Amino acid sequence: MSESSDEYGVGFISPRKITFGPKLGEGSFGEVFKGEWKRYQNGAPYYTDIAIKIVRDQTLIDNAWDEAHKMNELDHQNILMIYGVCNHPDDAAPWMIMEYMPCGDLWNYLYNRPQGCPSDWMWSIAQGIASGMDYLHNDANQIHGDLAARNCLLGHNDSVKIGDFGKFNDNYSNDYCYGAGGGGNLPFPMRWMPPENVAPAFTYPYKPKFSKAGDVWAYGVVLFEIWTRATTPYDDLTDDQVRATLAAGNNPYHFTNVLACNFIRGLMDHCWTRNVNDRTDFAEIVERFGN
Ligand SMILES: Nc1ncnc2c1ncn2[C@@H]1O[C@H](COP(=O)(O)OP(=O)(O)O)[C@@H](O)[C@H]1O
Ligand SMILES: [Mg+2]
Repeated sequence: MSESSDEYGVGFISPRKITFGPKLGEGSFGEVFKGEWKRYQNGAPYYTDIAIKIVRDQTLIDNAWDEAHKMNELDHQNILMIYGVCNHPDDAAPWMIMEYMPCGDLWNYLYNRPQGCPSDWMWSIAQGIASGMDYLHNDANQIHGDLAARNCLLGHNDSVKIGDFGKFNDNYSNDYCYGAGGGGNLPFPMRWMPPENVAPAFTYPYKPKFSKAGDVWAYGVVLFEIWTRATTPYDDLTDDQVRATLAAGNNPYHFTNVLACNFIRGLMDHCWTRNVNDRTDFAEIVERFGN
């Protein structure tokens, strides 16, 4: 597939085989471009559509390598695939070469369809994300830490893949809250996080917590995003108010009327169970969907 690989098995792709296309998305720390990768089969060239993610902030190069290594270990139909990494001589940051998802991210997709999406499509997206997360937690034993509609990518029909395994670097900067962390001011997605991982008041330095149970809570918020057509959780509240309302025992449901059937509303409730030990997990969610 590629010429060589690093000690984690991530393949290196020569920059000569990569052509850049238009920008697909931009983050506070990086950019994602569409591109083409020239490959050969039996001596004949062919081209594969790719997404190229480049971290611009040099302090995040380690995060980019982490993300590439994490993604390289994963193999599931609902997890975005990485083809390899391209080391350009003029750029210290690795270019992450990933499969291209033609329908973009789930948040934009929902936001651009204010008339709503077909119910069976929404179900199948929700189900696909649950299976990807079940694989991530129970087969790969990884935490995502930033599960949200903006980080789920769509293919044709009803295919969905979870992406953005480099937590914190995101282009939806208003979705992120800045706390003073030991390693600098990294933003974190408080509106997608459970009460037990968000301190009621910030003490400095503050480091947010991430956990599998936190990913389950975030999945409930993704269901909320799907069934409210991309509404921001706690839309009218400031970050300080969100912190307070979480501590007071509320969840996004408390503020927005979610028009979903009992099954989906029940699923959100299970994801938003306050007691972590009673909260559902992805194996159970997949089972509820009847996989
Ligand atoms: N593989 C892909 N195919 C198509 N679009 C993508 C792909 N990866 C990312 N994007 C677009 O770029 C945006 C940012 O990508 P993401 O991986 O979330 O980067 P960041 O770390 O900056 O948040 C996504 O929300 C999506 O719109
Ligand atoms: Mg992102």
